[in-house]
Amino acid sequence: MITIFAIESSCDETSAAVCRDGKILSNFIANQKVHEKYGGVVPELASRAHMQNIVPVVDIAIKQSGIQLQDIDAIAFTQAPGLIGSLLVGSQFAKSLSLSLDKPLIAVHHMQAHVLANLIADEKPSFPFLCLTVSGGHTQIVLARSAGEMEVIGETLDDAAGEAFDKSAKLLGLPYPGGPLIDKYAQEGNPKRFVFAEPQIERLDFSFSGLKTSILYFLQKETKADTEFIQKNLFDICASIQYRIVNILLKKLKRAALQTGIKELCIAGGVSANSGLRKSFKEMCDQNNWKAFIPPFEYCTDNAAMIAITGYYKYLAGDFADLSVSASARAAWK
Ligand code: KG4
Ligand code: ZN
Repeated sequence: MITIFAIESSCDETSAAVCRDGKILSNFIANQKVHEKYGGVVPELASRAHMQNIVPVVDIAIKQSGIQLQDIDAIAFTQAPGLIGSLLVGSQFAKSLSLSLDKPLIAVHHMQAHVLANLIADEKPSFPFLCLTVSGGHTQIVLARSAGEMEVIGETLDDAAGEAFDKSAKLLGLPYPGGPLIDKYAQEGNPKRFVFAEPQIERLDFSFSGLKTSILYFLQKETKADTEFIQKNLFDICASIQYRIVNILLKKLKRAALQTGIKELCIAGGVSANSGLRKSFKEMCDQNNWKAFIPPFEYCTDNAAMIAITGYYKYLAGDFADLSVSASARAAWK
């Protein structure tokens, strides 16, 4: 029996989880409300909130799992990438725990963990599979050959998909993070009503900065003619923005599947919680006879369960870190 305890603190969620033999026993997440009024995550406030949250979050995750601290075989933590101050809180805590329990440490790459969140459910993709990882900081197409061997075959040249949602929402006067609100309003709107620019980017890469500019100019023009344009057309605008973002993402994922011949496809990351993306992703896979996998909702946005499952596979591979390991804002995909 292998029991992994994991901590995630790369951005604005403090989370701890326990996984035993690949099954998640607990996954507790504390969201930080403090950033809402600033329209984005304030790094310094995030680090402070992590410091306040970490002890109670760890306590709750251990209690909910039903295990005792001495049952833990290894401690996994998010080492990179992310906000350095936030990462430091989680990594220092993990190191202290490792030292006091005399258990090994496992350093986890946050984006690889988003991909491996697809291995939590009973029905798992088989290797090799493709994963579209879409979050507030990243947009990548990953080719996973095994749990330890992953390659980024496409990525964004500017904004991430989550940023495209959040920045569009900001232009509409919606609070941060706007992605879930665009999703909600889009469900009531007509996605074909307004047509936003489609980027012409080569290979499997993405770009979202042109879309943001196209939305900005569109709104400036329309609100000049009618100051209440946004309020009157909010649902259709949201549906049209979401339609374009989803379309950009899936076009490239489809191209990647056709190029590689891989028929097992996954999505992961915060934006994979988007209902329009989930629906169109499943439809695309059905039409092409590809198998579609989406992690349960709570494993899509930042969570420690995905760190725990990645830690489990690293444990099996004997991939441990020592106490000299340090958190890092950026990281290569070794
Ligand atoms: O993976 P995540 O929780 O954190 C990062 O590592 O960035 O992703 C957060 C991003 C935010 O940009 C948020 O707006 C977006 O995911 N997001 C959504 C939805 N839920 C979260 N975007 C669109 N529709 C959603 N339902
Ligand atoms: Zn993330």
